[in-house]
Amino acid sequence: MKKKIVVTGGTGYIGSHTAVELINEGFEVILIDNLYNSEAIVADRIGEITGVKPELEVFDLCRRKKVSNFFNENKNISAIIHFAAYKAVGESVDKPLEYYRNNLVSLINLLYAMREFSIPSIVFSSSCTVYGQPEKLPVTEEAPVQPAISPYGNTKQIGEEIIRDTIAASKGLKAISLRYFNPIGAHPSGLIGELPRGVPENLVPFITQTASGKRDELKVFGNDYTTPDGFCIRDYLHVVDLAKAHVIAVKRMIEGKNKKRFEVFNLGTGKGVSVLEAIRSFERVSGKKLKYRITDRRAGDIEKIWADPSFANKELGWKTISSLDEAMKTAWEWEKKIRKKK
Ligand code: WQD
Repeated sequence: MKKKIVVTGGTGYIGSHTAVELINEGFEVILIDNLYNSEAIVADRIGEITGVKPELEVFDLCRRKKVSNFFNENKNISAIIHFAAYKAVGESVDKPLEYYRNNLVSLINLLYAMREFSIPSIVFSSSCTVYGQPEKLPVTEEAPVQPAISPYGNTKQIGEEIIRDTIAASKGLKAISLRYFNPIGAHPSGLIGELPRGVPENLVPFITQTASGKRDELKVFGNDYTTPDGFCIRDYLHVVDLAKAHVIAVKRMIEGKNKKRFEVFNLGTGKGVSVLEAIRSFERVSGKKLKYRITDRRAGDIEKIWADPSFANKELGWKTISSLDEAMKTAWEWEKKIRKKK
């Protein structure tokens, strides 16, 4: 009997890549998504990649009755992987209430359902944003969580606290929070990838859309930082490497290998890469010169952050395998593919 995993936000960027890896590992996957920022066709694409099309339930996790009905009709769920959330840092500053309501009410409804239907485990999609600008680099899980610089980042911090307190009060529950650094790239099949609606907030989709002619130029937000080349530094990891960590986390809890009932892991390469180095990587793998202009800094950007992934390496037996160039190449292949379709 296949173990059943519910993936919320399952037609989204990281959710869809994780669904592929879960199915490849022999799990039965049910996707829940309200399609606010993704498309139902992604479930078909997951089917094309794996040979098994996952069930897709379309509803809003903020509607508690809907959530309860779903879990009442779908028993024996081994774990939930919770991706569904609004995730645009800039937008969250303009729309704080929408972000707090959407990101926190959906999580709370899931935790109610876990208690009501005895669902034992949840993997929470968190972010390195919780660290703000770390004092020490590379950043470990012990680094202090800094006051959030955006409502989006705050929903990740508050989300972890809600889970921590709920786990403490409910013996049967356990959770793993995965703090992502910067996921980039797309599945090597070219069938799934990042599909940002409107103007992309993130660097790599903006780079590829500039190269494909969809955007005139990339604006680089500042090169006057105290970094070796003056540009911001981030830890860019391939989305497939990131997806694989979720499968490991789910198996860890199902097999009872978790050492505490609430565990946190940083998921990054451990290598800092500047915006300019990311641009050069894109130019290498695409053979194209990228049109970009240096502009003012973007409000809310931290200067530099990269992970110390040794805890995940050791405890989960997980590490990234794709290089920056390999990840960037899949992002470019994906961009060319979707441009062809449009
Ligand atoms: C990376 C670097 C920008 C766009 C955010 C969230 C994080 C996660 C990933 C959800 C920065 C520079 C960017 C552009 C640029 N989101 N940049 N021009 O801000 O590190 O992280 O997205 O899970 O939680 O905080 O990622 O890709 O937006 O920016 O110069 O058009 O690229 O200044 O230095 P970020 P990003």
